[in-house]
Amino acid sequence: MKLSASIFALLAVATFSSVDAAPAVSTDPAVKTLTIPLTGNPSYQRNATSAVLKARGKYNRFINSASTFANTGTVPMIDYLYDVEYYGTVKVGTPAQSLKLDFDTGSADLWFASTLCTNCGSTQTKFDSTKSSTYVSSTKTWSISYGDGSSASGVVGFDTVNLGGLSITGQGIELAKKEATAFQTGPIDGLLGLAFDSIITATGVKTPVDNLISQGLITSPVFGVYLGKQTTDAVGEYVFGGYNSNHINGTLTTVPVDNSDGFWSITASAATAGTTTTTTSLGAIEGILDTGTTLMIFTNTIATKVAKAYGATDNYDGTYTIKCDTSSFAPLTFTINGAKFTIPPADLIYYRGSTCIASFAYANLPFAIFGDAFLKSHYVIFNQAVPNVQIALSK
Ligand SMILES: *[C@@H]1O[C@H](CO)[C@@H](O)[C@H](O)[C@H]1NC(C)=O
Ligand SMILES: *[C@@H]1O[C@H](CO)[C@@H](O)[C@H](O)[C@H]1NC(C)=O
Repeated sequence: MKLSASIFALLAVATFSSVDAAPAVSTDPAVKTLTIPLTGNPSYQRNATSAVLKARGKYNRFINSASTFANTGTVPMIDYLYDVEYYGTVKVGTPAQSLKLDFDTGSADLWFASTLCTNCGSTQTKFDSTKSSTYVSSTKTWSISYGDGSSASGVVGFDTVNLGGLSITGQGIELAKKEATAFQTGPIDGLLGLAFDSIITATGVKTPVDNLISQGLITSPVFGVYLGKQTTDAVGEYVFGGYNSNHINGTLTTVPVDNSDGFWSITASAATAGTTTTTTSLGAIEGILDTGTTLMIFTNTIATKVAKAYGATDNYDGTYTIKCDTSSFAPLTFTINGAKFTIPPADLIYYRGSTCIASFAYANLPFAIFGDAFLKSHYVIFNQAVPNVQIALSK
């Protein structure tokens, strides 16, 4: 199980500085950049419905594929192992060096293994700043302490970062000189933080999304996140500057975000867990949307209720053992701004072996974490300027 980068980041930051004022940009997440030209044909019988259908058919590749808009960048993700983490390739420097990064809405640092590193993993790609003509060094340093007692740290530089075709210039990049053991053997070279810049450990550095907005590379201050499942497609996708409606099933619910601690924090007014015959009310749940955390994490008190509702037993390491047969389970349901969102019964199992491990857990935190166990059933459009999110079922 991947440890949570956001828990790490949370523990690392003792005090949160005040959040910078939101950039003066459009707050409309649905800004479309495509105009469909229609040619008049007077002899053709007017029928708006068929005209729309015809236009949609003709321009289908533009309509539902945000990636073809001028001001968006799309990064396909690989779904690692049992939906443990999702990573995508980002190009850094000139000429570009490709790095595999875990995109993490629960932290804000962009860091990766580098040739300055004394203990980075042998299979990791290490960024070599001496081979990049656009690299600018600095005297800044960065350091993240992790929940397991280890840490990653290094120096800050600035370079061109290409995110799905959008080329950010002068992006602050954090080159690891040392990193935790967990990263040395893992599939990723580093992390790309998508939380708010108030929690970046390198002073004064902006996030890639900050720079996409301030450099005018995207016109809509949003990114759309699709995380798939190992049991279906085993992929994911991030769209910067837009979203991909091909992955949205049904209506989007707009949800206010509290970013005072630098996270994408939302509140579910109610939640329930249980079986097809008995459900337990869990009360209101405040939690952060965190693509970098594998599981659905509850506070200890709520987790105990959830475990009891599903007959799961505590493994005393934050995880629960749960029945492998989910047929009697009701979905774990959250009411968010009037709409109901669920973790379906099958996804209440994180790992299937001779016994099964639940996808919900506890971490002794004062808030919940809506991790991948929740997000892999939902499409989320993160709007940094408002800030808010729009959530729908995904497909
Ligand atoms: C217009 O086109 C739609 C879709 O092709 C069709 O269902 C509908 O019956 C048409 N309406 C008229 C008035 O012809
Ligand atoms: C969309 O959601 C509905 C309602 O939950 C479900 O029945 C349907 O199968 C979903 N469609 C896709 C393509 O996933």
